[in-house]
Amino acid sequence: MKTIETVAEMMSLAKSWRREGKTVGLVPTMGYLHQGHLSLAAAARLDCDIVVMSIFVNPTQFGPNEDYEAYPRDLGHDQALAEGAGVDYLFAPQPADMYPKGYSTFVNVEGVTDYLCGAKRPGHFRGVATVVSKLFHIVQPEKAYFGQKDGQQVAVLRRMVRDLNMPVEIIARPIVREADGVALSSRNVYLTEEQRQQAVVLSQGLAKARELFVQGERNGNVLKKAVTDTIQTAPLANIDYVQLVDGDTMAPIQQITGTAMLAVAVYFGETRLIDNTLLEVESE
Ligand code: PAJ
Repeated sequence: MKTIETVAEMMSLAKSWRREGKTVGLVPTMGYLHQGHLSLAAAARLDCDIVVMSIFVNPTQFGPNEDYEAYPRDLGHDQALAEGAGVDYLFAPQPADMYPKGYSTFVNVEGVTDYLCGAKRPGHFRGVATVVSKLFHIVQPEKAYFGQKDGQQVAVLRRMVRDLNMPVEIIARPIVREADGVALSSRNVYLTEEQRQQAVVLSQGLAKARELFVQGERNGNVLKKAVTDTIQTAPLANIDYVQLVDGDTMAPIQQITGTAMLAVAVYFGETRLIDNTLLEVESE
């Protein structure tokens, strides 16, 4: 595995792969890798000739009071894990190379960013859409791999690719969880032992709602209440939102008819955790 540290070198490699007709898969990450990230690399490895993983803690997607500085970083460890997962090239640029002095172009995806994390974290998805556009231009992948863990991110990027005619297929992969159900996240390292134990209520609540759904429940309020009641059994949990939304538009819905996403964001102290589950009604 080779680590590429400059945009210029990455672009020249991508150009040569394109000329050779190679299928390139991209796995964008912010590093501090765990099995969730590695599951995306494994999927890319099966589909593509060349697997590129980017590691870039993207400053433009963090709000002024968020954890950009504190976000965990460990490139040496990430290099070993990425290599083990079959990554061919790790692209780890510097912020000043991605956003040089005078940088002023941003990608705004409207509508789908009005809800959930888009409403709670102003500017977040503008930063995500901007950096992912840049990565697509730099690496020129045919396929790009994202986790369903960030369900709204997937919806935003699918919209962006459609709207801007980007020749990239967005592939969404399932959420990878710890044995107790907690979704893997680089931010889990912020949790105290007690918070970590209680964090299980997110996935437990979603699992309860899913059970009701499987038994035939389609009403949003009933499903959301099952999640909220479970989360509220954890004394350290502070709910940011519990929402049932349309799987494509992310707009809140009352009743499930097609594909819905039941999504939660919960604070434990300063740490904000998210989780979701897709609930799908087969069309007749
Ligand atoms: P990051 O949080 O590092 O996540 C990188 C990718 O890994 C995302 O597609 C995310 O959904 C996926 N992922 C994280 N935890 C996962 C889990 N438990 N199971 C499955 N997949 C998981 O998401 C970002 O970075 C950034 O916003 C990025 C897209 C890189 C743009 O900066």
